[in-house]
Amino acid sequence: HPDQDHIIRLIANASRDWGIFQVVNHGIPFDLIQKLQQVGKEFFDLPQEEKEVYAKPPGALAIEGYGSKIGNDVNGKKNWADHLFHKIWPASCINHQFWPKNPPSYRAVNEEYAQEVRKVVDKLFKWLSMGLGLEADVLKQGAGGEEIEYLMKINYYPPCPRPDLTLGVASHTDLSTMTVLVPNEVPGLQVFKDGHWIDAKYIPGALIIHIGDQIEILSNGKYKAVLHRTTVDKEKTRMSWPVFLEPPGEFVVGPLPQLLDPQIPPKYKPKKFKDYCYCKFHKLPQ
Ligand code: OGA
Ligand code: NI
Repeated sequence: HPDQDHIIRLIANASRDWGIFQVVNHGIPFDLIQKLQQVGKEFFDLPQEEKEVYAKPPGALAIEGYGSKIGNDVNGKKNWADHLFHKIWPASCINHQFWPKNPPSYRAVNEEYAQEVRKVVDKLFKWLSMGLGLEADVLKQGAGGEEIEYLMKINYYPPCPRPDLTLGVASHTDLSTMTVLVPNEVPGLQVFKDGHWIDAKYIPGALIIHIGDQIEILSNGKYKAVLHRTTVDKEKTRMSWPVFLEPPGEFVVGPLPQLLDPQIPPKYKPKKFKDYCYCKFHKLPQ
């Protein structure tokens, strides 16, 4: 849309009312998105032993690597997803040991996607910041600036004979600042709003943007982290490619001071991102 103020309003309203929205005409070539999906699918189609080469090291604190949760129990429902995590940006935080060598084009495609997704993310940070009535760079700087880490995850949800006993991913909000997700054509993502689970519509080539916990905190609750989950399909394999935009672990995130005054107190405690993650993971109070 040619009118930037219009886009800012749409994005700010969606982030306030839903915490999630889809972006079209974002500038990432459709054939690059298709290549990203293709190389990810080829990796997950490899024999189990080959995927295990990239397994998350046992006992590792970091999240990177291949993992299988198929068969695990969550609240009486079976988990039904495999995943691969690896960072794609900034260059200094990339561990190539977790990037598949097969298919051979995996690396080049992911490098290209990282560069393209950065351009979109910078625009989103700018517009979300302006949507709060702030200078364009305030939100991104408050989230770690150029040190924000781009964590790629591939979710792989194979067909499941009993979808009624299963969840792909149990309901949660993302820990991230925001998450930029490419889905495949098999529906499954659901969003909780006004007491109901609502299916996300599949729009070919669109990016699904989730507001995560850290933007909710930075905006002092003006933008909402979206509660979401995924279902699985009886016949088809669902896949998705979220990129989580995370502050560095030591970076302290708290409500932006520009949004506070004596009448508007902070609703959240400033906290190192790694401490926030620890508390959420162990279900401790923030
Ligand atoms: C996640 C997630 C949604 C999806 O991995 O955090 O919410 O559509 N995935 O797969
Ligand atoms: Ni999520």
